[in-house]
Amino acid sequence: MTYSALSHLDCPRCGARHDADLVQGTCTCGSPLLARYDLRQVAGLTSPQDIAGRPADLWRYHELLPVREAGHVVSLGEGMTPLLAMPRLGKALGVPSLLMKDEGLIPTGTFKARGAAVGVSRAAELGVAAIAMPTNGNAGAAWSVYAARAGMRSLVVMPAAAPAITRAQCVAAGAELYLVDGLIGDAGRRVADAVARRTGYLNVATLREPYRIEGKKTMGLEIAEQLGWRMPDVIVYPTGGGVGIIGIYKALRELIELGWVRGELPRLVAVQAAGCAPIVAAFDAGAAESEPWPDARTVAFGITVPKALGDFLILEAIYATGGTAVAVTDEALLADQREVARLEGSFVCPEGAACFTAVRQLRESGWLAETDEVVVLNTGTGLIYPETMAAEVPVLPASGSCA
Ligand SMILES: Cc1ncc(COP(=O)(O)O)c(C=O)c1O
Ligand SMILES: [Zn+2]
Repeated sequence: MTYSALSHLDCPRCGARHDADLVQGTCTCGSPLLARYDLRQVAGLTSPQDIAGRPADLWRYHELLPVREAGHVVSLGEGMTPLLAMPRLGKALGVPSLLMKDEGLIPTGTFKARGAAVGVSRAAELGVAAIAMPTNGNAGAAWSVYAARAGMRSLVVMPAAAPAITRAQCVAAGAELYLVDGLIGDAGRRVADAVARRTGYLNVATLREPYRIEGKKTMGLEIAEQLGWRMPDVIVYPTGGGVGIIGIYKALRELIELGWVRGELPRLVAVQAAGCAPIVAAFDAGAAESEPWPDARTVAFGITVPKALGDFLILEAIYATGGTAVAVTDEALLADQREVARLEGSFVCPEGAACFTAVRQLRESGWLAETDEVVVLNTGTGLIYPETMAAEVPVLPASGSCA
């Protein structure tokens, strides 16, 4: 039985075609590579009806994923996170058809588990024994645990300012972890140097290998399936390295080509923090690529990426769908983190909260209409960032009343 319809890897910059059954990094031209599938074969192998009967994890889309043999799947049960209606918040924001895809309910607590599950599975299938990566924390935690489950070694370097709990996740999983007094780009240089000096380590930094994006694209596949094989009007995504937004765009185009969904692609919205908004600046300038953002800082640590390798792919996804890019302040996103929990009971991560602030701003500016069906990606649980929620409350003596 054919498990995957993976055909080859394509370079979106120079058009070169690469063998998908060899371990690959970026193209010789420096661009990330994208996995391509034989979609006619996929259509012959499965259908939405067939998929409906499969287990509720991301491997239900295995024909559209790169792992060739079911036995090579490394899983902790990731995927098929809830797509929740947010009626009270939606009413408050003036967008009644507001939905949230809640990635807080996934192994490791963030959507990074998707990229790690698929990336580690495919790396293991191709014989890789050790991975190395820079991270803003959450991806390092995810890749460490999946590497552990695959019996692979992992080397992780993250900024000292990354969420502390992600360190614990890496250490618990037996990763070789280092903190760097700098940002993710500094961590990336350390990793590249280590990979060049050591033998057997694959650099799995954001978009430096082709399969993390395949895991993340399943968010797009799930949104379409959960809506009954149709697409919303708008998808709002907190953008750092951009893997998720590029992946969602890729997924929906694959579904259109398969004929499983029809109509216009959703307008894709990249949300960034005002303290690190290179994609927003590039979008405002109508540019095809971004410029490195100086002095990047925000409480939404996962989106502190001053220069993304795949910036041109993020911008293409926004331009091609009639989307936009929005920057929000830390103050506003922290206020909305509270508002989401107060109105809907969900404790979202600051990156997810930033997307609700963006919805608020886009509705106020009129870019969003009241009738738009809007899906926000909450990329992780708020539990990873306990310091973002001040909880100064009275301490009572052991006995007595609090009336
Ligand atoms: C919680 C969270 N949201 C969003 C992002 C940004 O991810 P992407 O690379 O898909 O833009 C990250 C990246 O670290 C993250 O940890
Ligand atoms: Zn190329």
